[in-house]
Amino acid sequence: MHKDLETILFNEEQLAEMVTRLGREITRDYAGEEIYAVGILKGAVLFYADLVRAIDLPVTLDFMQLSSYGSGTDSSGDVQILLDLAKSVAGRNILLVEDIVDSGLSMHYLMENFRHRKAKSVKLCSLLSKPSRRKVAVQLDYCGAEVPDAFLVGYGLDYDQKYRNLPYLGVLKPEVYEK
Ligand code: PRP
Ligand code: MN
Ligand code: MG
Repeated sequence: MHKDLETILFNEEQLAEMVTRLGREITRDYAGEEIYAVGILKGAVLFYADLVRAIDLPVTLDFMQLSSYGSGTDSSGDVQILLDLAKSVAGRNILLVEDIVDSGLSMHYLMENFRHRKAKSVKLCSLLSKPSRRKVAVQLDYCGAEVPDAFLVGYGLDYDQKYRNLPYLGVLKPEVYEK
């Protein structure tokens, strides 16, 4: 375990199990359809890469990036699109793929944005959800696990852009972000 972590919340095997389950649910629900999977940079990239391989249907890959929290630990509430999709979403089954839904502000904004884009369908798949931090309700069509209000890093999640490449998900020691 990385020295800056207090504990491991989900190890590699547990993450793989979650991804496999979500992939199965998605494959079952979208049977006969094609999926346009939109990964939200950067946090979702590791989960996204594993999830698309767990879906046994035709999947087109694309990415968006929203305004970041920067190095802080709290949401500003302002959401901006920093990188948009490469193609039109008209007539497509959009599956938004996130690492974590926290305040819900990012996904609330994006779901609303997609309602105007004439997609055939829009659903959300998030590896993690932190319900205790929610400021606005978001429908999570697929969710790996609900997590407590701790500072989580690894498997894509960062603190100040660090720890994303850890293959497991852990709780950061408070002394790391309190200094
Ligand atoms: C984090 C996380 C989600 C979002 C959730 O991204 O990856 O995308 O915040 O927060 P919310 O539900 O309160 O809107 P961040 O802005 O840190 O960017 P990153 O993915 O590049 O780390
Ligand atoms: Mn993110
Ligand atoms: Mg981040």
